[in-house]
Amino acid sequence: MLRQALLAIAKSERAERVISSSRLTSDVVARYVASDVGAVIGELTRKGLLVTVDHLGEEVTDESQAEAAVAEYVRLLGLLPAGADVSVKLTALGLRLSRELALGHAATICREAAARDVTVTLDAEEHDTIPWLHSVHAALREDHPEVGVVVQAYLPDSLERCDGLAGARVRLCKGAYTAPGAYTRPADIDRSFVRCLKILMAGTGYPMVATHDPRLVRVAATLAVLAGRDQTGYEHQMLYGVRPDEQLRLAGQGARMRVYVPYGADWYAYLMRRLAERPRNLAFFLRSLLSR
Ligand code: FDA
Repeated sequence: MLRQALLAIAKSERAERVISSSRLTSDVVARYVASDVGAVIGELTRKGLLVTVDHLGEEVTDESQAEAAVAEYVRLLGLLPAGADVSVKLTALGLRLSRELALGHAATICREAAARDVTVTLDAEEHDTIPWLHSVHAALREDHPEVGVVVQAYLPDSLERCDGLAGARVRLCKGAYTAPGAYTRPADIDRSFVRCLKILMAGTGYPMVATHDPRLVRVAATLAVLAGRDQTGYEHQMLYGVRPDEQLRLAGQGARMRVYVPYGADWYAYLMRRLAERPRNLAFFLRSLLSR
């Protein structure tokens, strides 16, 4: 119930105006969003962590905003070390205006990234964009076979998706939005996640296991061993600000551990999704409002 309410608020322009203009939310934003992205990348890299960096913004409705997003990604690529990744939302590149526009912009980012030995991963967004996501991903892979894509385990067709992504870099996550027909019971989502993971680990691609769930982190490591993959054959991914000690622990054990680092002024929808994931975060949010 609370999750649904927060995800609805994430789409409300009125709530966005009120919450974004409040300086009171800064503690919560600082927990999940890098204020100085260059410094955060440097610090995580020094600690032995890999990064994927997301310039916040989504659902753009005019071409100039999409062009500005591409320009920012190109600027960002100049800050990143080789081996880094950028996470890109197609709706930030104009997907709501046209598939061709988003594809062209994503191809520009892929070209610039390849020149710097950086990979690109396409985030999965609202359910109505998922067919376009996979169509754009397939088109990009013709010239950029290393471009990755996210699969959301809460979607009942996630298994077939994984089956169809042989040889690809695939980030598997539970899913942060709502979708008609999506699994909602945690046990069903976890079961789907494990089934997808089995397919990805047994396949020829590169699985990126995006979860903070301790049980699923352990399952991933076990399935990797069973599939004959060593620690370079897959990676764990977690969000900036979530379970940082666990991130260091996994990296210390020799695992490839990548941190998803969002930055930028357009943090509202991202933050609301983080609050929706964990009701306890809402208490943290409200406490930080009341303590001012
Ligand atoms: P779960 O929500 O069960 O959390 C397990 C434990 O992790 C919790 O008990 C808590 O300890 C901790 N935790 C989880 N979320 C937390 C939070 N926000 N704050 C504090 N603690 C928290 N989704 C999507 O739809 N499209 C996408 O492209 C992506 N991309 C993506 C990239 C990466 C690198 C990650 C890690 C996640 C995503 N997601 C995503 C989000 C994903 O779908 C999911 O909503 C969150 O990862 C939370 O699910 P968990 O698997 O962590 O499990």
